[in-house]
Amino acid sequence: MERSVVLVKPDGVQRGLIGEIIHRFERKGLKLVGLKMISLNDAVLDEWYVHHKDKPFFGGLKSYMKSYPVIAMLLEGKDVVATVRKMIGITKARDAEPGTIRGDFAMSQQYNLIHASESIETAKKEQSLIFSKEEIFDWDKKDIESIYLQDELL
Ligand code: CMP
Repeated sequence: MERSVVLVKPDGVQRGLIGEIIHRFERKGLKLVGLKMISLNDAVLDEWYVHHKDKPFFGGLKSYMKSYPVIAMLLEGKDVVATVRKMIGITKARDAEPGTIRGDFAMSQQYNLIHASESIETAKKEQSLIFSKEEIFDWDKKDIESIYLQDELL
């Protein structure tokens, strides 16, 4: 099944929104297969944000992402990458749709609470940057057949 990496960014940790954010993904029916608190360093961030390295906000973005620890989640589900991107809302949080995480809780383009993998390829890269094999749990989620039709699980 497809996986997506989500980070509750330093502003989300500071604002006490860790539980709220995890709760939204749990209620949606996504399976949490990895969860940890981690301090990001330059080596990880240079790789993570390689597509932003020439942007004027790159230095500030890295300082912000290193300022406090983040919560990293590995979520599993059908089409989970696209689903989670919809749930978080657009980058500029004050323009994000109400009902999305950014739309409900944030105002800034930088302090936008949350990161989610953009594609299946970046999800794989991000998973390898954050989680070791021992930190990923392929547990048996007993309500899976109440969440998906059998055909959707193939
Ligand atoms: P995200 O889209 O998850 O990944 C890139 C991050 O860079 C983005 O969230 C913001 O936190 C930050 N970012 C994007 N655009 C800007 C900007 N114009 N100024 C400052 N930070 C930005």
